[in-house]
Amino acid sequence: MATVELQNLSKIYEGGVKAVDNANISVQDKEFLVLVGPSGCGKTTTLRCIAGLEEITDGELTIDGKRMNDVAPKDRDIAMVFQNYALYPHMSVYENMAFGLKIRKYPRSEIETRVRDAAQILDIEELLERKPKALSGGQRQRVAVGRAIVRKPKVFLFDEPLSNLDAKLRVQMRAELASLHTRLQATMVYVTHDQVEAMTMGDRIVVMRDGVIQQIGTPLALYNTPVNRFVAGFIGSPPMNIMKVNLKESSGGLVVDDDGLQIDVAAVHQDRLRSHVGRDVLLGIRPEDLTYAEETRGGAIKASVDVVEPLGAETHVYLTVGSNTLIAKVAPDVDVRVGTEISLRPNMDRVHYFDVETEASLTQAAAATV
Ligand SMILES: Nc1ncnc2c1ncn2[C@@H]1O[C@H](COP(=O)(O)OP(=O)(O)OP(=O)(O)O)[C@@H](O)[C@H]1O
Ligand SMILES: [Mg+2]
Repeated sequence: MATVELQNLSKIYEGGVKAVDNANISVQDKEFLVLVGPSGCGKTTTLRCIAGLEEITDGELTIDGKRMNDVAPKDRDIAMVFQNYALYPHMSVYENMAFGLKIRKYPRSEIETRVRDAAQILDIEELLERKPKALSGGQRQRVAVGRAIVRKPKVFLFDEPLSNLDAKLRVQMRAELASLHTRLQATMVYVTHDQVEAMTMGDRIVVMRDGVIQQIGTPLALYNTPVNRFVAGFIGSPPMNIMKVNLKESSGGLVVDDDGLQIDVAAVHQDRLRSHVGRDVLLGIRPEDLTYAEETRGGAIKASVDVVEPLGAETHVYLTVGSNTLIAKVAPDVDVRVGTEISLRPNMDRVHYFDVETEASLTQAAAATV
């Protein structure tokens, strides 16, 4: 059993940088929680506060209900895996994995059992006598994870553990870490700036920006109901298209209006948007919610094609509409040519609306809970 609770936790570095601003996170027992956000948003600092490597400026950290603010890192029963692996170059893989147990004075036989068990789980039994320099990046990564596993900690912390690996290995290690989590049934907090890693690995995701938590939710909740423009743009690839449009009232209800573009607002969104009639709003459309339309009549966006990227399974099309640029995902067999004009029909039930000033979602009920 291991829960981790951050209550109104803040970290201000000497010099005044507020790296974490009033964070509230409840990591549940056996949960795989991912912290994601752009460089400098406070992910590593949050993790280091949990590990005890940084002093907490304000707020509370509890593990299994016990206050940890003033508990030494070694007494927190946590293991952290760093981006650069931090293996000892002069020690063999076995010694690297055994080291943490040795300094904690575990009996030799217990150390041997734990290292061999971890090596088996990670499929590195053949490498135990090698030095780190004789290993590939992926193998080093496994050793770094092995060093954490042998400790049997309550909580695992990972700080961008895959970012030094090439793209293919990253995908493989991603799956391995996910299955390791299932196997160990441990509580894990995982930091990455890669939204694909966050989406594919996390039970829940915490999106951070400038030290402030923007939204916490399951991958699909963040994708389907982002509470603001930042989360909407961060989750999903290619990112959501954002257009500034005017909201007008017509005989049939509300319409969005922009340079020659007029589309009916879906029934599900009408009520929430009524107070914004006559004003500009930000319209968010995911590339996958734009469908290639043969004819241009009613409800379609006319756009000129700038770039076509065939990816095999799908094609990404970069377009200009008035003063906006858009990206659309279309089926690979659609014949789209650069320099021509095409029509796209947005799935209006699935689009998002944001306030121009605050960038908060106007249509997600959850917007109130940022
Ligand atoms: N020891 C420090 N002293 C002062 N400021 C720091 C220190 N460490 C980090 N910061 C600042 O705190 C903020 C958060 O840094 P942090 O390393 O937590 O970001 P991050 O989200 O992990 O970024 P990255 O994705 O680049 O690793 C940044 O503005 C950073 O410059
Ligand atoms: Mg970091």
